[in-house]
Amino acid sequence: MFNDITNSNILSLLILSLPILLTTILYHLTRHPTTTPCPESHPFIGNLVAFLRNRHRFHDWVTDMLSTTPSLTLQVNGFLHLSHGICTANPTNINHLLRQNFVNYIKGHRYTTVLQDLLGNGIFNSDGNMWSSQRKIASHEFNTKALRVFISDTVRLQITKSLVPYLLTARDDDHTTVDLQQVLRKFSFDNICNVAFGVDPCLLTSSVKDSKYVLFVRAFDVAVEHVSYRFMSPLPVVWKLKRFLNIGSERKYKEAIETVNQFAMDVIKSKETQISYKTNDDLLSRFMASSWDMGFEDEERRKFLRDIIISFILAGKDSTSTALTWFFWLLDGHPHCKHMIHKEFTTLMTSSHHVHPLDLTFDDLKDLNYLHAALSESMRLFPPVPINSRLTVDDDILPDGTFVGKGWFADYSAYAMGRMERLWGSDCREFKPERWLDDNGVYQAFDQYKYPVFHGGFRLCLGKEMAYLQMKSVVVAVMHEFEIEVVGGGGTPERMVDPPYSLSLVLNMKNGLHVRLKKRQQSSEAERAKDGVTER
Ligand code: HEM
Repeated sequence: MFNDITNSNILSLLILSLPILLTTILYHLTRHPTTTPCPESHPFIGNLVAFLRNRHRFHDWVTDMLSTTPSLTLQVNGFLHLSHGICTANPTNINHLLRQNFVNYIKGHRYTTVLQDLLGNGIFNSDGNMWSSQRKIASHEFNTKALRVFISDTVRLQITKSLVPYLLTARDDDHTTVDLQQVLRKFSFDNICNVAFGVDPCLLTSSVKDSKYVLFVRAFDVAVEHVSYRFMSPLPVVWKLKRFLNIGSERKYKEAIETVNQFAMDVIKSKETQISYKTNDDLLSRFMASSWDMGFEDEERRKFLRDIIISFILAGKDSTSTALTWFFWLLDGHPHCKHMIHKEFTTLMTSSHHVHPLDLTFDDLKDLNYLHAALSESMRLFPPVPINSRLTVDDDILPDGTFVGKGWFADYSAYAMGRMERLWGSDCREFKPERWLDDNGVYQAFDQYKYPVFHGGFRLCLGKEMAYLQMKSVVVAVMHEFEIEVVGGGGTPERMVDPPYSLSLVLNMKNGLHVRLKKRQQSSEAERAKDGVTER
């Protein structure tokens, strides 16, 4: 779909452009994709041609270009030089953007114009007081006490009642494969709905094809795909024109937003009827209780709550599922790491006298150093949010000497950073969880600006710890039950050269992750872990 949209965009561009431009673009498009290390910037069309030629491998194209620059920063010029910006993979610059000169790099109109209908003034789409007040209220949801409850009540229950039973139905049949990415996306949606408004939609296990949740998720996915297209559009005037005329993808987007809004309003109204919301711990209840003192009219207050719900669904719905999808893909190509993870949690189960990995407590999960390292390493190579952007309030000079003008965009690419030899060494493209462990096998985090997978500075991801805990619980439960074999093979070093991602706000795996599941022989594995047998 992304390609369809992009093609229609190119079509509109051709219609709108001068004949000379048409000739230039057609000439360039008929050539093979380039691996030119620097963006080719032409007087009128800026980097447009190089962008169009490389859009199918966008993140790798950005990586190629950044790796050849002296300070891991490059300048980008838009069509007709209507927009300018920089893109960096330099940790010192990122520290400057996200912390040192935070006030100069905002979400601004570049974000809000694209995302307004979907996110409104939610935490992802706001600056200043609107952002800080939401962050303050929401942060309670992520404190240690709340996370303990999240693991013991929400995650454990959903894994036992829904994820494992669902996967069990697909096991041991050589002809049955399951799209693990799709399963994980449904699972994490169920999870985030619990956190956001205290409801379990049972999307994963429900067979109702047109429930309000199914319709919402479908509409939400259309909307997210569409805003991704808007972000990647080389000529924003095209989608703005379509929006004005209410045609094509913009019309579909508008319809999707109506469904999303209806769903959010239903959730809010239903919560308003519950007397118990004042004592509930979910995010919506928390924000609802605070919103009475904020001086809103009724509809204004509901709109504020709607924006919060949608932002959190965006944050939690596809981030962990994307991370886990790449993780399981990589594990299949690295049997030694798979073995190490299994051995680590079975050993921990034995020493803490647990019979099932879901008996592992919040503190036990924290002790899984190798698993923590493997998840971090997987996200280093495949960050769920591959690229991020800010708008410059005033002229500035970055620490590496790069000039950034007022109104320019300032992007950083977490995807490119994970592939930078200057940051990670000559084995930067290899999947090596060991790089995160000290001599005693204890996990050591890298600097957040060298590893901005969870962003950094004042807007560091609020759900970081929750995400790790959720992912660890899923991994141990799934690996305890099943041997997973990726159809067509997993992420070996050779396959990692041209990884199968699609272009969206998150780094989804193109065409999903199709796997075969075999029930694991529990007793023999536990014995082997007890005996300390290792495989290489
Ligand atoms: C592997 C999983 C995750 C990754 C890689 C991730 C990554 C990120 C990134 C890159 C940002 C910065 C976005 C921006 O400002 O443009 C962010 C912000 C945020 N994340 Fe996450 N996230 C993950 C999971 C979660 C989860 C599960 C939640 C909550 C349930 C969450 C809640 C948030 C919130 C509320 C913000 C906004 C913080 C602010 O602007 O102050 N994240 N996350």
